[in-house]
Amino acid sequence: MVNIETDRLIIRRFSCNDWMDLYEYLSQEQVVKYEPYDAFTDIECKREAALRSRNESFLAVCLKYNNKLIGNIYFAQQEPKEFDNWEIGYVFNPKYYGKGYATESCRAVIDYGFKSLKVRRVVAMCNPDNVSSWKLLERLKMRREGCLRKNIYFKTTEKGDPIWTDTYEYAVLNEEWEEMN
Ligand SMILES: CC(C)(COP(=O)(O)OP(=O)(O)OC[C@H]1O[C@@H](n2cnc3c(N)ncnc32)[C@H](O)[C@@H]1OP(=O)(O)O)[C@@H](O)C(=O)NCCC(=O)NCCS
Repeated sequence: MVNIETDRLIIRRFSCNDWMDLYEYLSQEQVVKYEPYDAFTDIECKREAALRSRNESFLAVCLKYNNKLIGNIYFAQQEPKEFDNWEIGYVFNPKYYGKGYATESCRAVIDYGFKSLKVRRVVAMCNPDNVSSWKLLERLKMRREGCLRKNIYFKTTEKGDPIWTDTYEYAVLNEEWEEMN
């Protein structure tokens, strides 16, 4: 994927040097509350930045004016590939919430997916309790297609029992995006 530029942001591949900016937000419990992993240590962030630098599905979202990495987007084709469904995910640094950066960057990545990669359908999933997440998907004009009841768990109780959670599923088709944007 090429670098994507918006009014305020540059969206680019990760580099190993990004680990400190990654640590600034992935080390926070509140940030990873709805993610399938726990808060990261600094050593884990070093490893993670290196892994992401080799994985084109992870994109670093940076402020254009100072190059600060403020969040990341995951954009990847789901299996089976012939269905041409691409999943989008996002995690941002709380210092930069409430400014529209997640909306601006996700919109640009979806637009790139539909227009340049000729993607057929983009999907996203989130926990209904994660209101900021589904509000973002609705700002992007994605459609809520369902609520799966207790279909998944990311965290366990102290005893190791699964904490089952519901999932909202959202999607938008290429032709719908073209009409709306
Ligand atoms: C999900 C997440 C990225 C949303 O962040 P966010 O700051 O709410 O989203 P945006 O950056 O798009 O900002 C939108 C907010 O900024 C406001 N805003 C200010 N300027 C804006 C602009 N120029 N354009 C759009 N919105 C703007 C909007 O009104 C909105 O505020 P509201 O929520 O009070 O209505 C963030 O909460 C996060 O990283 N959470 C932790 C990780 C996570 O849970 N990821 C999702 C897992 S499914």
